[in-house]
Amino acid sequence: MWRADGRGYPGRVTQQALSEPFEIGGVHVPNRVALAPLAGIGNWFVRLQARRHGAGLVVSEMVSSFAIHHGNRKTLTELLRIDPRERTTGPGGPVAIQLFGQDPDVMRSAASTVAERGADIIDINMGCPVPKVCRTGAGAALLRDPARAVAVARAAREGSGLPVTVKLRSGLRAGERDGFELALRLVEDAGVSAIGFHPRSAQVQHKGTPDLELAALLVERLAPTPVVLSGGLRDERRVLDSFAATGAAAVMLARGVLGNPWLFGGVLGLRSAEPGREEVLTELDWLIGRAVEHLGAERAARYLRKLYPPYLERLGASKADQAALQGSSSIVEARALIEAFGTLAATP
Ligand SMILES: Cc1cc2nc3c(=O)[nH]c(=O)nc-3n(C[C@H](O)[C@H](O)[C@H](O)COP(=O)(O)O)c2cc1C
Repeated sequence: MWRADGRGYPGRVTQQALSEPFEIGGVHVPNRVALAPLAGIGNWFVRLQARRHGAGLVVSEMVSSFAIHHGNRKTLTELLRIDPRERTTGPGGPVAIQLFGQDPDVMRSAASTVAERGADIIDINMGCPVPKVCRTGAGAALLRDPARAVAVARAAREGSGLPVTVKLRSGLRAGERDGFELALRLVEDAGVSAIGFHPRSAQVQHKGTPDLELAALLVERLAPTPVVLSGGLRDERRVLDSFAATGAAAVMLARGVLGNPWLFGGVLGLRSAEPGREEVLTELDWLIGRAVEHLGAERAARYLRKLYPPYLERLGASKADQAALQGSSSIVEARALIEAFGTLAATP
């Protein structure tokens, strides 16, 4: 039994509502609903969109510590771009930049650059299951090398002077708990300020049921260090239920907000209705505008293809219309197609 106000199960009197503030390493976070890191997606304007819809904490897509250390221009200008509007829109709040890498010295140097660029928090990725990342010893591979993982997190703290958080999996393989054990060590030995916990093994990637019992145990063992829960949070009911069942400090929304930023407002009690057609069209228009601002029209046209599908489904676009938009070669063409879907569907 869950309570619609997000205050959790009646028996758990200590858990705050999702709309209540909390702190990560002394940094004020205005509420307990975060945008999760999303590779290839979570740039400044996707984070700004999350903020407009109420997210109290936003986390960037994962950024290579090596690319920063070696001064890769695109990484520095695009991936590390933080827009001032991210801090002044909606509830405001901190911007976390997520880094990946397995070399403590490189991490120290990258973290220092990230602090100079204005991040409020550094998050380290110890959960990515992608072979290209794990083969280098980074991402979820760090679960198997706890001494290195602690050194990497400590180096990020030393290099940046910022609170450092780590996002990790329950384990590398199904049934294993090396991620759980590492989380305890990271807080104890590396002074990590919060853990983002995705209680699925790296082996199952993003499939399967998150182990909420294990998450609840981690919350208990790490208290008062905040645990931010990730995994399977795709609708309002699941978010509120999982938050209540685990006693987590906060939740982190990922696939659930792709094409549905309204979920932020829903779980925060800021809205109760699904968005109407006009609202969806206005949102898409905003997104296209920001993508052009960031990438220029040509690259924005390609980038946006991965963001369109869930919005189009909401608009009830046919498969053929969806394919047409996916195949659109320019922003002008995409805007015309979207306008046509909007007008056609609005016609009785
Ligand atoms: C497209 C995509 C990209 C992701 N990129 C990252 C990433 O860069 N860093 C990270 O820690 N997790 C990443 N994740 C994992 C999510 O942050 C989240 O933990 C995961 O999707 C589980 O939440 P969900 O079931 O609510 O989607 C990614 C997930 C997806 C689907």
